[in-house]
Amino acid sequence: MRAVVYKGPRDVVVQKVPDAKIIKATDVLVKITTTNICGSDLHMYEGRTSMEPGRIFGHENLGTVVEIGSAVDRVKVGDWVCLPFNIACGFCENCERGLTGFCLTANPGIAGAAYGFAGMGPYSGGQAELLRVPYADFNCLVLPPNAEEKENDYVMLSDIFPTGYHATELAGVQAGDSVVIYGAGPVGLMAAYSSIIKGAGKVMVVDMHKDRLALAEKIGAIAVDDSDGSGVEQVMALTAGQGADRGCECVGYQCCNHKGHEVPNLTMNNLVKTVRPTGGIGIVGVFIPEDPHAKDILAKQGQIAFDFGQFWIKGQHMATGQANVKAYNRKLCKLIAEGKAKPSFIISHELPLDQAAEAYKNFDARKEGWTKVILKPGQ
Ligand SMILES: NC(=O)c1ccc[n+]([C@@H]2O[C@H](COP(=O)([O-])OP(=O)(O)OC[C@H]3O[C@@H](n4cnc5c(N)ncnc54)[C@H](O)[C@@H]3O)[C@@H](O)[C@H]2O)c1
Ligand SMILES: [Zn+2]
Ligand SMILES: [Zn+2]
Repeated sequence: MRAVVYKGPRDVVVQKVPDAKIIKATDVLVKITTTNICGSDLHMYEGRTSMEPGRIFGHENLGTVVEIGSAVDRVKVGDWVCLPFNIACGFCENCERGLTGFCLTANPGIAGAAYGFAGMGPYSGGQAELLRVPYADFNCLVLPPNAEEKENDYVMLSDIFPTGYHATELAGVQAGDSVVIYGAGPVGLMAAYSSIIKGAGKVMVVDMHKDRLALAEKIGAIAVDDSDGSGVEQVMALTAGQGADRGCECVGYQCCNHKGHEVPNLTMNNLVKTVRPTGGIGIVGVFIPEDPHAKDILAKQGQIAFDFGQFWIKGQHMATGQANVKAYNRKLCKLIAEGKAKPSFIISHELPLDQAAEAYKNFDARKEGWTKVILKPGQ
């Protein structure tokens, strides 16, 4: 099969690799029809993680089941399925509590596993023609009859739509709340979209990229253009000097100042500044335990200089981590099926798998107009 293989920093190639196959009786094999490039792939692509060269990228996957293991009961050959990026067993203590992003079985010694992901187990990604899906009865979201017609919407259930929703859950967004979201990438846009779906009163999205901010405006959020570094003041002005009720971090450890220099503590401290006293902060942007290639001395050890005093005095609270996709994907799927949500609005490029290298380069550069790339291995 053909697959997107990581060779080293800023180097991916589409090449022939051995076909993915069923290894355990609880696996299914999926023929991938859509697979997305994610901001999380970029941390790996840039060589800023422990990702091993030779591995296949891709954790946002959708396709049809072509083979089932002998112990699979629920999923059938021919089913259209969307796979949560988390690989979870369904029976460990964390999975039992719905915390499938922290499965204790799939990646022994570490809580949480994923396809084609640094530090999240040996599993190959789905930017390929075929994908092995472990614990398939638990992990597969079998899609409704309009799966093919709405494929570009449903594929967002693999990660970014539930992740954006998770950010709003971690922050505690409720109807009427004002929400400030840092990052207008795919995840930030999905957090804004989820806030709007939940009935938030005012949704503000901060970023420096005008094309991405325009998408935020298109769904009814307020674009806060930080390209002159005034984002914090703008949010305070929009909230009568109080700060927003809730805040979401949708950028992660490689966040930049308006001049494009990495400042790892910037979004976290801006959240403390722009969320009101006693407000909630949800952090889904990725932060990692060590970042040897960081310029910042603290960041090398996975640390940031956090305004803890301000955070404490304001009585704020925060919550973090990988999204437990299964906690939300079925409900969000129903919104798509019923025409109440259309997360495909963020897609800027739909390309054959063979153009993956070019796509990585442009998406990594956050080149104007490259908001979200989906790859079609069948084309
Ligand atoms: N927790 C999870 O389960 C989960 C799932 C998916 C992605 N993620 C993470 O979410 C983050 C965002 O993903 P994405 O796909 O949207 O990535 P992306 O890189 O495309 O988007 C990030 C955006 O943040 C903006 N940005 C940078 N510095 C900023 C600042 N100081 N203030 C405001 N905006 C700033 C960038 O201009 C960019 O538009 C990444 O860290 C990714 O790894 C987490
Ligand atoms: Zn992703
Ligand atoms: Zn588990």
